[in-house]
Amino acid sequence: MKVQVRYYSRSGNTKLLAEAVAKGVGTKAISIDDKDSAIKDKTDILFIGGALYAYGLDNKLKKYIANLDSKKINQVVVFSTSWISKHSIDLLKKYCREKGISVKEEYIYYKNKPKESELKEAEELAKKLLKER
Ligand SMILES: Cc1cc2nc3c(=O)[nH]c(=O)nc-3n(C[C@H](O)[C@H](O)[C@H](O)COP(=O)(O)O)c2cc1C
Repeated sequence: MKVQVRYYSRSGNTKLLAEAVAKGVGTKAISIDDKDSAIKDKTDILFIGGALYAYGLDNKLKKYIANLDSKKINQVVVFSTSWISKHSIDLLKKYCREKGISVKEEYIYYKNKPKESELKEAEELAKKLLKER
């Protein structure tokens, strides 16, 4: 099964979460700023994450999602960090659904910089979501 992890992070919080998710599902977390971030292969599950900035997603992440090829991605699981609001989860789901990509209801979310225990929990949750498929 092909599983990929992509994220956008300004100050590293979502990056930490992306790395925990990637560890859980046995792949590496790739920033959407990386030159190799495009999804070229058929992917069973794409874990995609980003934080909330001024009640929205960063434009780069919005553009990245808008450019995803829905024919290559079977399902998406979203993850995010923020100060307080989970609106980023709603937005990530909305933009992926608008692309016609199936989005799993469950998501992975922590406030600000996830603690070690939360990163471990995220790793296990990602693993569980993968198995559930
Ligand atoms: C400019 C800016 C705007 C933000 N706006 C919100 C917001 O509207 N709601 C919220 O809950 N968190 C907000 N946050 C907090 C970030 O979502 C939070 O710090 C997140 O963990 C940052 O992730 P990153 O380190 O991956 O960039 C904001 C942070 C910044 C820097």
